Amino acid sequence: MKNYISILFLLLSFSGISQQKSIDQKVNELLAKMTLDEKIGQLNQYTGDNTLTGPLTINPNKEEEIKAGKIGSMLNILGSEYTRKYQELAMQSRLKIPLLFGLDVIHGYKTTFPIPLAEAASWDLAAIELSARVSARESAASGIHWTFAPMVDISRDPRWGRVMEGAGEDTYLGSKIAYARVKGFQGNKLGDLTSVMACAKHFLAYGAAIGGRDYNSVDMSERMLWETYLPPFKAAIDAGAATFMNSFNDLNGVPATGNKHIQRDILKGKWNFSGFVVSDWGSIGEMVNHGFSKDKKEAAYSAITAGSDMDMESNSYLYNLSQLVKEGRVSEALIDDAVKRILHKKFELGLFDDPYRYCDAKRQQKELNNPENTKAAREVAAKSIVLLKNDKKVLPLSKDTKTIAFIGPMVKPKRANHGFWAVDLKDVDSTYIVSQWEGLQNKVGKNTKLLYAKGCGISDMSKAGFDEAITVANQADVVILSVGEAPNMSGEAKSRSSINLPGVQEDLIKELQKTGKPIVILINSGRPLVFNWTADNMPTIVYTWWLGSEAGNAIADVLFGDYNPSGKLPMTFPRTEGQIPLYYNHTSTGRPAKNEDDKIYVSAYIDLQNSPKFPFGYGLSYTTFGYSDLKLSKQVIRKNETLQLSLTVTNTGKVAGEEVVQLYIKDRFASIVRPVKELKDFQKIKLEAGESKTVTFTIDNDKLSFYHENLDFASEAGEFDVMIGSSSEDIRLKSEFELTEKTPAAN
Ligand code: GLC
Repeated sequence: MKNYISILFLLLSFSGISQQKSIDQKVNELLAKMTLDEKIGQLNQYTGDNTLTGPLTINPNKEEEIKAGKIGSMLNILGSEYTRKYQELAMQSRLKIPLLFGLDVIHGYKTTFPIPLAEAASWDLAAIELSARVSARESAASGIHWTFAPMVDISRDPRWGRVMEGAGEDTYLGSKIAYARVKGFQGNKLGDLTSVMACAKHFLAYGAAIGGRDYNSVDMSERMLWETYLPPFKAAIDAGAATFMNSFNDLNGVPATGNKHIQRDILKGKWNFSGFVVSDWGSIGEMVNHGFSKDKKEAAYSAITAGSDMDMESNSYLYNLSQLVKEGRVSEALIDDAVKRILHKKFELGLFDDPYRYCDAKRQQKELNNPENTKAAREVAAKSIVLLKNDKKVLPLSKDTKTIAFIGPMVKPKRANHGFWAVDLKDVDSTYIVSQWEGLQNKVGKNTKLLYAKGCGISDMSKAGFDEAITVANQADVVILSVGEAPNMSGEAKSRSSINLPGVQEDLIKELQKTGKPIVILINSGRPLVFNWTADNMPTIVYTWWLGSEAGNAIADVLFGDYNPSGKLPMTFPRTEGQIPLYYNHTSTGRPAKNEDDKIYVSAYIDLQNSPKFPFGYGLSYTTFGYSDLKLSKQVIRKNETLQLSLTVTNTGKVAGEEVVQLYIKDRFASIVRPVKELKDFQKIKLEAGESKTVTFTIDNDKLSFYHENLDFASEAGEFDVMIGSSSEDIRLKSEFELTEKTPAAN
């Protein structure tokens, strides 16, 4: 029997290796047939004309170039019919190498989910993975092989428009979310028809642009890179990310696209990344603008030697690599490495077996009208909503409320709820998107009268609509006021120097407050905004971000208590732009302020409190939670030991709810000053009214380690504080422990 099993094991394992070898073998066999020009063609990517997501490279010959094998991938070509048309052109090329179709499926294809920053506020990794899963299913059913997501850039600057696209300021939360999103997009196996290749972007440190101004320079220490900006990319690789995209910014003086250190030393060296790297839109050619490359030929040289495998929309490779090889400046082996990485993915996707396998109109029709997708979008959206204030318990609203006035510029628009980076489906109208108005209509009974007034625009200064809004408010028992920034005020190239509520919206709030009616403020935004008067004077505030195609229903679910809000802020909300960068895991300084009003010879502004308006990890519920019984398995641990923590969380309110229990750690003294606290774990738990649960965490050496130049990551002996919080500022339980010896942590 044993022999039989061992023979079977050998056969199985051989078939596994032979299957892997067969892709490598197929790649090598195909490569051997390719001319240098055909190889370079595989490294060239152009956009289609569906949606422009960057400055267009004018090229009227794309279709001819595809037939000539000069283009290996297209982006912004979508739909089974349209992608089939372009794939047919590729099948006319000499070697019939199929095209890869890429698209920015950032938070949904047709069914649109909350913007990623909103999803991060859910702290619900299963929900975040589900969102990516549905997005993958819908796009893979529509001819797409590859999404340019997840964007995993950490950012501490809400002026930067692209904070909407990421997971906020924290490396631990951002790494967990990066992992979940890659798993969601790629599913169990690339090549099954419900998955698309993921693309971890933007490598590297794009979110640290000086001044929060998009595309601006980044300058930071190697330590900061390793401790704050690299871990989410490593998490993406651990999740199996098929591709990376490099970033527009120069990093410590070298544009990321031409940066050997991050691409060769780290990504393809230390991390042994086997996928391929696509440049961001035109970023190879833009190294000329950076003043790094004299011309596009030098840019092509720097990019290919630094490890950028595919050239998006700059045709620097197409027009220069052949010459560089002929001049002996670029070895053909370097080209071969890039080509093999790309061909390998095309084989994994099954495109050589059937180039049209993702172009199936019937499957597309079915997937894009799948009620399960809509249900998922509504659930994820509700989980992403953050309750900032509910001082007078106006929420949840009663479904028997007689008259409700729904006022504001965000009430009736539909597509606005998608926010930035929604897929522009030309052939689909927006009727399927549930506006905030429609969500309220769907929720209330026939005995509730709904009144509407726009009140004002988003950024225009006209107050002409105020009177109507006040009239309508005076007729109502409750007012809901939906305000915010416009959906195109965040996203790419959408940095704002002032992150206030634009226009006269806060004036409208002030006027409506005078009616004395209970008012629920909804704030729609792609970033943390500054709205101090509203935050100080209005008792009921809900942060609704941009929630996607089920926005209206999700908002109504929360406002009427059918879903008890559970979101927690993934970014610090500053009191003013002058505080930026402001983040919770800052270091102490030698003169830390003792409280928010301490100004005497301490690190503080003389004209402002020291604290944020709303802290990282903050969010309320319709119930309350008690924390007790924090226990540590040990008070002293060795480096190779783990520490178990347990505590009890109790729902001390009257309705069921979810709480995000946050574990923060502070290393009191170390050879490199450590943050005042760092998120090291969290658990989102659901509790019925009165229910208690024991929550446990494990602290291991990795959670105590930090970057050391010669040791990579290692922890240091010493004393540590443990903090359990309902937010980074609302610490409910504390304890401490000691670490007693030094050994390098496995990295
Ligand atoms: C854009 C973005 C990038 C996107 C790409 C393709 O400029 O920076 O995130 O994936 O171009 O649209």
